[in-house]
Amino acid sequence: MTETLLRGRLLTFHREPADATDTDAYTYIEDAGLLIEDGVIAAAGSYAEIAARAPAAAVVDHRPHLMMAGFIDTHLHFPQVQVIASWGAQLLDWLNHYTFPEETRFADADHCARMAAAFLDQLTDNGTTTAVAFCSVHAASADALFAEATRRNMRMLGGKVMMDRNAPDGLRDTPQTGYDDSTALIARWHGQGRNGYVITPRFAITSTPEQLDMAGALAAEHPDCHIQTHLSENHAEIAYTAELYPEARDYLDVYERHGLLGPKTLLGHAIHLNPREVDALAATGARPVFCPTSNLFLGSGLFDEARLRSRGITSGIATDVGAGTSYSMLQTLNEGYKVLQLQGQALHPMRAFHWATRGNAAVLGLEDRIGTLDPGTEADIVVLNARATDAMALRAERASTLAEELFILQVMGDDRAVEEVYVAGVPRKTRAKMPGAEVR
Ligand code: GUN
Ligand code: ZN
Repeated sequence: MTETLLRGRLLTFHREPADATDTDAYTYIEDAGLLIEDGVIAAAGSYAEIAARAPAAAVVDHRPHLMMAGFIDTHLHFPQVQVIASWGAQLLDWLNHYTFPEETRFADADHCARMAAAFLDQLTDNGTTTAVAFCSVHAASADALFAEATRRNMRMLGGKVMMDRNAPDGLRDTPQTGYDDSTALIARWHGQGRNGYVITPRFAITSTPEQLDMAGALAAEHPDCHIQTHLSENHAEIAYTAELYPEARDYLDVYERHGLLGPKTLLGHAIHLNPREVDALAATGARPVFCPTSNLFLGSGLFDEARLRSRGITSGIATDVGAGTSYSMLQTLNEGYKVLQLQGQALHPMRAFHWATRGNAAVLGLEDRIGTLDPGTEADIVVLNARATDAMALRAERASTLAEELFILQVMGDDRAVEEVYVAGVPRKTRAKMPGAEVR
């Protein structure tokens, strides 16, 4: 058995806090010990108490930094690591001009392997320990992602996109091959190690009704798989969807009619919703996912979190790289704060950090395994430094509370604020890339 004892300040959430005064919702320990045994959190408490319990453990001292559950990114695109920062277009033009041509390159397995390693390095360096990823249409892209995640023992969710129309040659499957490839990938990867397969019809525009039928069949055959797609991101997308599916009552109804809505369904964006669609989200338990940097970058619109919350609908929050402009969940919370500000909605930093950790875990139904530092859960941990840059350190001189520290991290933080990342108990931050840092 390998035993590691981390020492530092510790924050973990038990439920969503309203603000910092909601102290039952979280545990904060100034001098904490976090004991890891074989990739699992064995104990958490005061350092003195935990150290007495594990005298043989190797101690890693992270003081004065803050230990938290690793971040969870509930929507992003693995084949878009070389699409991020592509200029000047809104959704449909951006897809046609930049994204689809780039995704055709994933027909090559070597390219998939190289990009999978680079993608997971970026996630890890930003403190993200679990992601829910769209792959390309090629089964090999999902194979590469899961193979690389397996090598690193990361809890990874993802799936090959199903898309059989309105896309260039080399980037379309068929209803049958989409079904067959997805079935084979589920058999190969779902529940293997820490991998989970996600049934992934890209969005209504790139699937025929026949393909969505097949996606619905997959969902019925594999009820323990998540489903992911996109919903109501952009007005031109919504208008074209209405043309392609004239019988549907609205955009969400396209997915509803094909048996794709339930509590395991993740719907990226969900910005422009009519009242019936909000009712249907509430009734089915499907989960909208807020992608603030993407929504601002593509000029898509403002996600109305308070409207959904008022109906008991729980949303995820995610980067949506490569329309999203940062791999950092800190920067995602920063832009999320601003999108909600524009609508008079307040995102308290306590709620923000819950959202990126336990909140997103709960959206995935995985809060018993990831998203907290509870004993028995997987040891995916981020160590944060609110004084990582001169500007942050200067601001931190005038901060005295935990909430202020968290807000500095949220507004000013990025990968530089991530001191270390543990994936199933193993330190994984790629320090070799930082000038002057020790090469691991
Ligand atoms: N809708 C369909 N595909 C995509 C994609 O790759 N990115 C975004 N932002 N929206 C989409
Ligand atoms: Zn997306």
